[in-house]
Amino acid sequence: MRAPSPTLAVHGGRPVRDERCPWPVWPVAAPGASAALDAVLHSGSWALTSPYREELQERRFARKFADYVGTEHCVPTDHGSSALVIALESLGLRYADPVLVPALTWAASATAVLRAGLVPVLADVDPATGCLDPSALAGESELGAVIAVHWACNMADVPAISAAASPLGAAVIEDAAQAHGARWQGRPAGSLGVAGCFSMQHSKVLTCGEGGAVVTDDAERAGLLEELRADSRRYREDPVRGELPLRESATTMGANFCLSEFGAALLCAQLDVLDEQHTIRNRNYATLGRLLADVPGVRLLTRRPAQDRLSLYEVPLVFDPLPQDGTNVWVATALTAETGMRAYPPRPPLSRSHLLAPWAKPTLAPLAERFTQWNAGRRFDGAEYLSHHAVLLHHSAFLGTEEDMFDMADAVKKITLYIAAGRPA
Ligand SMILES: Cc1ncc(COP(=O)(O)O)c(C=O)c1O
Repeated sequence: MRAPSPTLAVHGGRPVRDERCPWPVWPVAAPGASAALDAVLHSGSWALTSPYREELQERRFARKFADYVGTEHCVPTDHGSSALVIALESLGLRYADPVLVPALTWAASATAVLRAGLVPVLADVDPATGCLDPSALAGESELGAVIAVHWACNMADVPAISAAASPLGAAVIEDAAQAHGARWQGRPAGSLGVAGCFSMQHSKVLTCGEGGAVVTDDAERAGLLEELRADSRRYREDPVRGELPLRESATTMGANFCLSEFGAALLCAQLDVLDEQHTIRNRNYATLGRLLADVPGVRLLTRRPAQDRLSLYEVPLVFDPLPQDGTNVWVATALTAETGMRAYPPRPPLSRSHLLAPWAKPTLAPLAERFTQWNAGRRFDGAEYLSHHAVLLHHSAFLGTEEDMFDMADAVKKITLYIAAGRPA
């Protein structure tokens, strides 16, 4: 560790990193982004539902992203949450069927289940990986579906989860909102379940501010997904200039979850730089892993050997022990003070999240009752452990230099030494 200051910055000492030394900002506009947005601005076609002029950006992005994920089809949406809603709707389940959702994820993984008229049944996660373990399905008997969430920087073992779900007749949907470009035995996240859902919201590695997509290999499902996100309409095979490029196929009833042409054009540009960014982030993450490998009191999440490419969304640093009379909230504050890069604790497990409150909406009343029944008596020890011991760093912290990782490791070591000395928070 270089020139340590014995006093923590949070206690008024000199921080590890000079405050004037900036961290990378997020988002980073790709070289082609401005031109792509400008072209849409002057195109006279700002939406999928504009009179047709030329190939939609939305369709261009759908093709590019399907190629990236290695699936036959991609249906873009306005949000990752709506991607989950329509993916669930495309399964044709019955009202109030139970859907397994890991307890450690963003609230939308579960609220989307309710929006689709289904009941989220919460399952614990493996504290080593932060993801649903296939063994979590062992005690279940009645599932309609499983949402396999790829959490933070780790992928859930979708092939093993699918094998466990299959005897129950449950379909596996991947929530890959945090995993664009991650790979499991060479197969991209999103391509391993019956459908894969992505978020392109601001904080994600591929973003247009607000956006999403569902990918699938199933042509029939892709057609349904188109209708479910465009008020029961599908793309026309041969769109006519000046007319709507959608036809009212209406084999099911949809809603409007369409991605705008601005969002689609921006995503096309951003996708061109995603792999370059993955390379930088993953190199820096490997450096941080090496620097922290022998540091007692902190670890990175365990990565399953089958995951052969990482996509860092948030990087959990797991601190154990915690300081005397202190929490990971204190550790996050102390780490932020040392480096100037915001560190923050994970959200609480969904079992005690105030964001998952179906009883707050009268129209969800019958589902809320079943939600309470289904989730009574379940334990979430793995999710609780990570929510109390992890501190997260946003992926943008890994877009800079190796020097940044030295600073981060020095700051982590300073804090673990302080904790090991048995000093109070
Ligand atoms: C795991 C997960 N699922 C779903 C979503 C929802 O995506 P959106 O915010 O685009 O609706 C998010 C967004 O953070 C997420 O992290």
